[in-house]
Amino acid sequence: MKMILYVFLSLSAFLSFKSCNETEKPKVISPPDKVTYERDIKPILAASCIPCHFQGGISPYKWDNYEAVKYKISLIIDRVNKDQGARKFMPKDGTKLSPETIATLRKWVTDGTLER
Ligand code: HEC
Repeated sequence: MKMILYVFLSLSAFLSFKSCNETEKPKVISPPDKVTYERDIKPILAASCIPCHFQGGISPYKWDNYEAVKYKISLIIDRVNKDQGARKFMPKDGTKLSPETIATLRKWVTDGTLER
């Protein structure tokens, strides 16, 4: 029994070490230590919320600056969490953000909505 436990522990230690090394490449899959607006949030919004939420877009709300996004982040999370096609779902007429991307948005809040 002890042996099995030992094998299991060393295996999980090995696996977690391995996944640590892999966090560098696909940023959205495993959010890095502290999520920041400049590095993580801005690219997400730029990729999924353009052209509507930027200067000249069809929405009156502009998700193109730190203050605005920080102020509205709980509403943003609420909207992207809705089922695709549901009323008020965002991105409007678009594809639901991946669970990893939504997790990054949430983590930004728990990390303290840092700008950079
Ligand atoms: C195709 C255009 C379009 C896209 C793409 C889009 N939006 Fe919107 N969004 C709108 C429009 C139009 C409104 C205003 C109507 C409404 O509230 O549903 C809106 C409203 C919102 C609101 C409510 C703001 C408030 O203060 O009431 C939030 C939050 C929001 N969008 C977030 C997002 C996020 C986050 C994305 C990207 C993941 C996104 N939207 C992508 C068009 C879009």
